[in-house]
Amino acid sequence: MSLLDSKSVIKTGVKGDLLTPMGHDGPVNNTAEPPSRNPADAPRKHEDRSRLYPRVTSFRFRRGALTSGQQRNWETLWPVLGRDLATGPDQHPEPPLDLPGWFGREAPTVLEVGSGTGISTAAMAADEPDVDVVAVEVYQPGLAQLLGLVDRGGLSNVRMIRGDAVVVLRELIAPASLTGIRVFFPDPWPKSRHHKRRFLQRGTIELMADRLIDGGVLHIATDHADYAEWIAELLATQNPDAPHVVPATTPVPISLERPTTKFEGRAEREGRDINEFVYVRPARERHTSDADTGPTDPANGSQEQE
Ligand SMILES: C[S@@+](CC[C@H](N)C(=O)[O-])C[C@H]1O[C@@H](n2cnc3c(N)ncnc32)[C@H](O)[C@@H]1O
Repeated sequence: MSLLDSKSVIKTGVKGDLLTPMGHDGPVNNTAEPPSRNPADAPRKHEDRSRLYPRVTSFRFRRGALTSGQQRNWETLWPVLGRDLATGPDQHPEPPLDLPGWFGREAPTVLEVGSGTGISTAAMAADEPDVDVVAVEVYQPGLAQLLGLVDRGGLSNVRMIRGDAVVVLRELIAPASLTGIRVFFPDPWPKSRHHKRRFLQRGTIELMADRLIDGGVLHIATDHADYAEWIAELLATQNPDAPHVVPATTPVPISLERPTTKFEGRAEREGRDINEFVYVRPARERHTSDADTGPTDPANGSQEQE
């Protein structure tokens, strides 16, 4: 039996019954300025990472003590299932991950940004054993909880990285290597002066699109109305001639069914809509001139697409 509950949500970018307008009338009236500074703007290769620090991040470091069970999991399971992203001014870019080597098989891979306590991660991984899942989170107790869920569920298709998902995507994930990216209930950073901290920016959308295979899925869910409008505007104002992602109009290669997490449960109790965005990476165009110029790495170039 599936671990996933069915629920009604507002989904944007999915064909048929799931295609429902965003929770607002008319054009998006987002008072926020389009983001001009993006976490993915920083240099990638062969450059001192100190230029990345300090920089605006979409998270705050939260200290949290591990329970004794989590501590045990951490000591025994983390070395097998997890890895720490080396961070700090003295660190150099890490080599891309060998995903088949890490999972011990070739399989479609999904990366989840900010997996929290891993409720969705574990449930979706259990529901799709043929898909490998990389959960990225900075919060150690959340990862420790996910270790326990993976262990108890006997899941062999989950791996974890402790670190900033922007750096993970830029440095560890090769272009065109992910079948899906999930961003569920990202921190909304509601104050205007904090909007630059939001994970979803033009640069991160472009970066994620670059890491997706053609037809790969970007699946976003938020219960925060203003963040939903921000995301809708980012997606709607891409270059129409060369969008990084487009609304999904046909069945996608990974499951879109999520379990109800505490964020979603609270939103439902408080009468807030859940907005979901299901977009796909369009096919890369093969120009003969590509051979002359080489591939574009969005992590190195300008992120702005006006
Ligand atoms: C509001 S919680 C949602 C957790 C989970 N996705 C869920 O639906 O329950 C957002 C999580 O994203 C994590 N996070 C925010 N920015 C991140 C980043 N750049 N890299 C990794 N994790 C991040 C935070 O630590 C936090 O646990």
